[in-house]
Amino acid sequence: MAIDGLGAMTKEKRASWSGSLAFVLAASASAVGLGNLWRFPYLAAKYGGGVFIAVYLILSLTLGFTLLVTEIAIGRYSRQSQLTAFRQLGHSRWNFLGVLATVVPLFILPYYNVIGGWVVKYFIAYVKLVVGGSGGLENPQAFFESFIAAPWDPFVCMVVFTIVTCAVILIGVKNGIEKANLVMMPVLLLMAVGIAVYVATLPGAAAGIRFYLIPDFSSCDNIGKVVLGAMGQMFYSLSLAMGIMITYGSYMRRCDSVPKASVRIVATDTFVAALAGFMIIPVLFIFAASSGAGRAAIDAGPGLMFVTLPKVFSSFGSAGLWIGFLFFVLVLFAALTSAISMTEACVAAVCDFFKIKRGTSVAAVCIWSVVLGAVSAFGYGRWAEFKPCGLPALEFFDTSMNVLTPIVAALICIYVGWILKPKRILAECQRDGGVVGFKVFYVVMVKFVAPVLVLAILVSEVCRIFGIGGWAI
Ligand code: PHE
Repeated sequence: MAIDGLGAMTKEKRASWSGSLAFVLAASASAVGLGNLWRFPYLAAKYGGGVFIAVYLILSLTLGFTLLVTEIAIGRYSRQSQLTAFRQLGHSRWNFLGVLATVVPLFILPYYNVIGGWVVKYFIAYVKLVVGGSGGLENPQAFFESFIAAPWDPFVCMVVFTIVTCAVILIGVKNGIEKANLVMMPVLLLMAVGIAVYVATLPGAAAGIRFYLIPDFSSCDNIGKVVLGAMGQMFYSLSLAMGIMITYGSYMRRCDSVPKASVRIVATDTFVAALAGFMIIPVLFIFAASSGAGRAAIDAGPGLMFVTLPKVFSSFGSAGLWIGFLFFVLVLFAALTSAISMTEACVAAVCDFFKIKRGTSVAAVCIWSVVLGAVSAFGYGRWAEFKPCGLPALEFFDTSMNVLTPIVAALICIYVGWILKPKRILAECQRDGGVVGFKVFYVVMVKFVAPVLVLAILVSEVCRIFGIGGWAI
């Protein structure tokens, strides 16, 4: 969720985070979104449950933390958005990194909006149910499958979602969103805890919880794939490698602590993702066992949140209608506010790059999102034949992101580790007068571990895809 579009925080308001809590809230709000609620559980199911969680936790506490500190510190030091930050640091030749970090969200936003559109559809279905009509959700599996394959529905929903996002950015409802976030975020957390606890009490849930928590490396055939999946997810979930944290950091006060804020952001984001897994994975196991669907149900992929949660809600009886309704209101909110932060990053960059007016830039980004989003929206129906690399378009974009963000992240680490030098970042971290107790860890991470790990996993993946033996893990 994003507390506000980045553009609303103009230069004059650059110091406008009212304190470290305001910053943490804004950054966590950008981080918590569909990545946590929709993407994390389906990847955890796909990549072996506990193994994925273990790898994800290690990566987010080490690599994620390192990168978050780096991006926020670059932003605060340069007082610029990602497009010009590197030039400001005195290395014009590396400014291409800022451009790259801007291009990535331009490719992610369109398909993010498609999933946002799915949430819109579910929101409407629950509204219909609550007012006494038939939402068509009696059979969630059939509902989902016929919806994504429908000729127009997914496209129309995506357009609605995109237009709402762009309208918010144009109108700039800063206060409204900020205040709503303060209420919605805790409510979302409470509901998630409540649903997760209820799910844990269902008969048969234990197998799912075991799968989710206990790593079983023998069930995982390709650890390289798992690490790449977890790494891409971590960058995505923490809104890293897309310039957002650089821009957010540029609005941070010098007297606030970068490391403390980073720890809080990582903790909040990871907590919400873990909760989403607790809500969904056990249900999956119960369903897989009772329907005889077995592994197929567990590998359900992007449809997971949209199929399994409505099943849980319908098992609540009539109260389930309201819980489902509330839940999708909150997911919609989380998705919208994250999309707003991503759209705003694109809009601001397009404005700067082409030197055009804000309104024109919003229109351009909106059209771009709808056109590119159409490929993903129609990818399960109308244009199902079109399968780049054998995947439905939406999953193709999703997978490409897994590769793109680590490349940007590795380049940022190489830049900071070897060109800018880590001491510049560490000095920025000490500006508030705090003691930085992780200097050696940071230097080793940013100079060696991060670039080597990220590049090794990428090379291994590329070799696997092209069938070059020996290198693939
Ligand atoms: N982190 C957001 C999520 O989890 C997605 C996002 C990525 C938002 C990058 C903004 C920038 O859904």
